Amino acid sequence: MNNEQLSILDLITETHAGLERQGPGSTEMTVKALSFLNNSGISRVADLGCGTGEQTMVLAQTISGNITGLDFIPAFVDVFNEKAMKLDLQDRVNGVVGSMENLPFEKEEFDLIWSEGAIDAIGFEKGLTHWNGFLKMNGYASVTCPCWFTDEHPVEVERFWADAGSGLNTIQHNISAMQRAGYAPIAVFTLPEQCWTDNYFAPRAEAEKALLTRHAGNKTAEAYVKNDQYEVELYSKYKQHYGYAFYIGKKRRGPGSNEGKITSG
Ligand SMILES: C[S@@+](CC[C@H](N)C(=O)[O-])C[C@H]1O[C@@H](n2cnc3c(N)ncnc32)[C@H](O)[C@@H]1O
Repeated sequence: MNNEQLSILDLITETHAGLERQGPGSTEMTVKALSFLNNSGISRVADLGCGTGEQTMVLAQTISGNITGLDFIPAFVDVFNEKAMKLDLQDRVNGVVGSMENLPFEKEEFDLIWSEGAIDAIGFEKGLTHWNGFLKMNGYASVTCPCWFTDEHPVEVERFWADAGSGLNTIQHNISAMQRAGYAPIAVFTLPEQCWTDNYFAPRAEAEKALLTRHAGNKTAEAYVKNDQYEVELYSKYKQHYGYAFYIGKKRRGPGSNEGKITSG
């Protein structure tokens, strides 16, 4: 028995800090999402829930402006800044520790807010509504979020995501939420299976093998890994019903403003 005290946050940090991505995604999908934007006027970008910044470095290769990554796990931000340094991007790509729910930025500072795999942690509509205030008018929000692809919603999947502090909605629900939050949807597309299996689950399983060796006999670590293995099983069984979608929108009105809202009556 190993009684070492480990929190879930410790385990998430230890397994994910060395991974390229901390959630499903791919360079191809980041580039595809970027192709819907007019990059010419983009000079200030925020990448929220940036993790160790794999997608941020892709953005930096297409967009010439300054990019700030934000994440609440300091170890991820350290890796992010090391990556920026290695790629000689440190003058315009910088990672900061902070909360996506209470952004430490100026109002209307950004031309683009990017976020892959993170917004569901605070709620799709809530996040987009809060972030709206930090975007210039006509600025873009480009985010991925897990969602239902079909009208069948297996209860095991529903329960898993709720227990993880998130929740799934349909793509149509999220498009309406994006409009309510003040954005005109520009494009929505789903992420292919490899974004989960090859790019996230496989490297995570390797990292978790090493984790179990380092913390042999620790019940918290074992339960943590078991839960992640269950996530892989669920995905393999029900992947036709859910997955990630990219949502790209353009700010058309301020947060809480009625301007441009469709009203009935
Ligand atoms: C699934 S990972 C995605 C990371 C990265 N964007 C990627 O696609 O590889 C979600 C990230 O959001 C961060 N995160 C979750 N809730 C947050 C919050 N309230 N404020 C800041 N970061 C948060 C986590 O620390 C984690 O790095």
